[in-house]
Amino acid sequence: MSINIQEIIGNSLRIAIAKVLDIPQEDIDPVVRRAQNPNVADFQANGAMALGKRYGHNPKELAEKIVAVVDFGEVAETPTVAGPGFINIRISDSALCSLLEELDCDSLGIEVDEDEHSVAIDVCGVNVAKQLHVGHLRSTIIGDAIARMYERVGRTVYRENHLGDWGLPIAMVLEQLLSAEVSLDTLSLDDLNVAYKNAQLVSKDELRGEKTALQMQAGPHRLVEIEEQNTGALAAQRAAKKVLNSLQQGDEKLLCDWQKLIDCTMESVYESLNLLHVKIGPENNRGESFYRDKLGGVVESFVETGLAQKDDGAIVVHFKNRERPMLIKKSDGGFLYATTDLAAIRFRTQELNADRVIYVVDARQRDHFKDLFDAAALIGWNRTPDGAVAEFVHVPFGSVLGEDKKPLKTRSGSNVTLSSLLHEAIERGTREVLARAEDPKSPTHGMNSVDLHTIGRQIGIGAIKYADLSNDLVRDYVFDMDRMVAFEGNTGPYIQYACARISSLIRKGELDPNAPFLVCEPQERSLALKLLQYGGVLRDSIQYLEPHRLCTWLYEITECFSAFYQSCPVLKLDDTSLKQSRLRLANVTRRILVDGLDLLGIESPEQM
Ligand code: ARG
Repeated sequence: MSINIQEIIGNSLRIAIAKVLDIPQEDIDPVVRRAQNPNVADFQANGAMALGKRYGHNPKELAEKIVAVVDFGEVAETPTVAGPGFINIRISDSALCSLLEELDCDSLGIEVDEDEHSVAIDVCGVNVAKQLHVGHLRSTIIGDAIARMYERVGRTVYRENHLGDWGLPIAMVLEQLLSAEVSLDTLSLDDLNVAYKNAQLVSKDELRGEKTALQMQAGPHRLVEIEEQNTGALAAQRAAKKVLNSLQQGDEKLLCDWQKLIDCTMESVYESLNLLHVKIGPENNRGESFYRDKLGGVVESFVETGLAQKDDGAIVVHFKNRERPMLIKKSDGGFLYATTDLAAIRFRTQELNADRVIYVVDARQRDHFKDLFDAAALIGWNRTPDGAVAEFVHVPFGSVLGEDKKPLKTRSGSNVTLSSLLHEAIERGTREVLARAEDPKSPTHGMNSVDLHTIGRQIGIGAIKYADLSNDLVRDYVFDMDRMVAFEGNTGPYIQYACARISSLIRKGELDPNAPFLVCEPQERSLALKLLQYGGVLRDSIQYLEPHRLCTWLYEITECFSAFYQSCPVLKLDDTSLKQSRLRLANVTRRILVDGLDLLGIESPEQM
């Protein structure tokens, strides 16, 4: 049975309304909300207003008729009608206590999702030879949180790291390194960055420079210069294409060299992923190279079904409702980012049996995903082998901004690397923890340095993650480390700190885990009612792919707990059964906070 109290009430009301109005239950929204004033009621149902209007009844009279027939069983006391037709509902003490009893079990009231299909989540998506940057941080944090939420309800999840590890850009980097005779066995990230930059310079020059120079009537000197550059660029491009060709043909020596670029990049990526405490590792790599043998087949499928056409030597897919076609093969025979993504989406529905394929990728790739999803649906790759229709979702996220509201840059103006950001957060968290441990009254006083540093990392990383997840994902946000690591306000450390304080309360109070619940004070009721929403909040966060719903709710729980703790004494109580009941309420609060933070990928230190 569901322990979502709002749902239980809603269901009883729906049955009653169907009876009174003689209409099907599906058409009824009883509009159940938490009541504004907890002294009057726990919930208020406002459905009679709209229903009255729709079916030509006075709302107040309708509400009274509903109240006369509704059967809440033991769950609620007899409801009352207020104002123009609001139904006030108070949950009975006994129901509240027995629901709490059910909540305080292993599942914490989370229902299992029986869907046998898997969920594929496109996360991280780093590019070989390029440093991880802040955008990849967001994809990783958000994607891992969504994956954790799905796993929590029992679904099989594939975290797919769609590495940019194939194609001309990588071949160019490899070609640069080989022609500069860089030793690939001692390759460093710096070597890679230099080669990447050179490759970019070469590929950007192309013939565009010449046109502009002509337009600007540059002198003959400049033209000669540009021509030379272009010849160089073209030669380098030709060389890179040759490298790519050999790679595609399976040249063993080159493939071995290529693998070294990947290993070098991924070593630093794994280091960051590790610090980030996300469940993403080598086992999640299914990059562009994985699909390299499947691209020809993808294009063929589109041509054979008449969904793709030749266009100036290239092959494109046209859509009915827009001008922009999707290029799937270039006139020089090369494949594109989109072609690989088509191969990947097919793999995800057909091989991984995913009925929801989620792409946690920068909002700027919106058009790409629109095209991808539409093309995949056209060809029928939106069905799993058993015929279920798969849903494709792009979860776009905004940019991380600096204090100047521009994309985050270092003081010297370069892009901020992920690793530097994480280290700064960890240092800030650690500084905070070490300062607190100085205080003889602090539970961390006298703790050894290794443990203090572990807590510091948990706080620093938790702070970054919470700040990232707690906003509407698509909004840009300003990266403000001071605010993120603060122990007050809507922050990760604030919630972590509440968990640690409750842990210490429970240790001091010697909790009896089987003590019966007693719910007397309004703050106790509020907290209990709020806790019972856990399953519903998680379900909505998954449905709408909005981890910020869970964040907000965890913050509200923390606030509710602190209101409860301020007005309801615990350790000082002489009445042991009330004391034990409150300890147990505190404990289930702590368990839910820890569980919820874990779904966000945030650790909860026992002491802070
Ligand atoms: N490597 C890409 C980038 O950095 C992100 C990959 C996103 N995933 C995908 N299936 N296209 O922009």
